[in-house]
Amino acid sequence: MEIGVHTGDFSSQILRIVQPKALHCVDPWKYEDSEIYAAACYGRSVKDGQIGMDARYLAVCTRFHDAIRTGQVVVHRGYSSDVLAKFPDNFFDWIYIDGNHLYAYIRSDLEISFKKVKPHGYITGDDYTDGGWWQGGVKKAVDEFMQEQAVSVVLLRNGQFVLQKTG
Ligand SMILES: C[S@@+](CC[C@H](N)C(=O)[O-])C[C@H]1O[C@@H](n2cnc3c(N)ncnc32)[C@H](O)[C@@H]1O
Repeated sequence: MEIGVHTGDFSSQILRIVQPKALHCVDPWKYEDSEIYAAACYGRSVKDGQIGMDARYLAVCTRFHDAIRTGQVVVHRGYSSDVLAKFPDNFFDWIYIDGNHLYAYIRSDLEISFKKVKPHGYITGDDYTDGGWWQGGVKKAVDEFMQEQAVSVVLLRNGQFVLQKTG
């Protein structure tokens, strides 16, 4: 699963490199007008606001049309917490977290992902850095999560994190 799809560039790389049996792509494609999201790629810079986000969603569906038809790609338009809740526990081989970067959302994505990946599955994601418009929320949440949960650190590099579920 990829949480946070945007225009599908990373989804496309996952498909090409990993060649997964199935890739679940999750994004609400919801325009956020409030100040805190001003610098986010779904904030005030989006041309035409929600209409622009709707166009982005349709472009992703078009981009992956063939893979959607074969069932290799499943696009879920919704919030990660809602979409993940619909899957059984211990379901995914791995989840890549790159959705809402604010601390509370990353904490929630990590906790739910922990339940939803298989034993020895991977919880991975982007922007494990200080700063950013999310004020280091990803790094703070991941650092806490690594201390509290049964995971081992596989890799922390170039803002990417890869954790493996051990419990
Ligand atoms: C940084 S972009 C993702 C980039 C993409 N992973 C890539 O590398 O090409 C963040 C995306 O997260 C989405 N998003 C925001 N809140 C979300 C949430 N609660 N659940 C899932 N996705 C969310 C936004 O709509 C946006 O498209």
